[in-house]
Amino acid sequence: MSSLVASGKTKELFETDNPNILKVHYTDHTTAGDGERNEVINNKGKMNNEISSLIFSYLKQQGIENHFIEQISDTDQLNKRVNMIPLEIVVRNYAAGHFQKRFALNYLDNLKKPVVEMFWKNDELHDPFINEDDAEALDIINANEIKEIKENALKVNQIMSDLFDKMNLILVDFKLEFGFDKDHQIILADEISPDSCRIITKNTKESLDKDIFRKQTGDIMKGYQIILDKLKQEIIL
Ligand code: TMP
Ligand code: ASP
Repeated sequence: MSSLVASGKTKELFETDNPNILKVHYTDHTTAGDGERNEVINNKGKMNNEISSLIFSYLKQQGIENHFIEQISDTDQLNKRVNMIPLEIVVRNYAAGHFQKRFALNYLDNLKKPVVEMFWKNDELHDPFINEDDAEALDIINANEIKEIKENALKVNQIMSDLFDKMNLILVDFKLEFGFDKDHQIILADEISPDSCRIITKNTKESLDKDIFRKQTGDIMKGYQIILDKLKQEIIL
């Protein structure tokens, strides 16, 4: 039996025979409001495992180094073990969520340029917004590393926005996480799924992502399935 290394809100990490490789198990847990709502949605783990596997494979193909190795079952994948940087890197193309609220904008207002924001992963403080100076001063990360992460996040944004555009979808915003691999290189890690992205249809602007759960407007599995089907059509590995 492989032992549990860490357990998050929606995923569990296990040791493998190789100390540099972890098995990641996607659960059916779905959370919102800083974990205040936590529900089990049948097959969501399978769906996100498949979607995240496809997107990470595609990003690798497009030259973005990342932790993904392979999908090994419906709900499990192998990832390189990385030392995670405790920052959530959010990229925004249109106003939504916290950004929309903070600046009193309308939903989907245009932005003159994509915005990269950082949030410090700190449960006690509820993941506060953090700027580059703060992150350096608190010794979370140095200036060069921040620069590299920002450049990488914007590259990922370009690649993913183009991909979703071809699928007749719009990537409104999303969250990334990075870590250091065994050679101390910064690589993209964690997951990219409709749990961590806002994705809407071009025509009707209908949400296909976790906003359906946050706003309780319908069945998230229907939205996630549309995204998965379109990704399968678009991505040739
Ligand atoms: P926000 O507008 O709530 O800050 O969210 C921006 C994007 O980041 C959105 O696509 C959802 C994603 N996100 C996460 O993946 N995890 C989180 O804990 C939060 C707050 C947002
Ligand atoms: N990830 C946050 C939570 O666990 C919610 C969100 O994505 O909005 O509650």
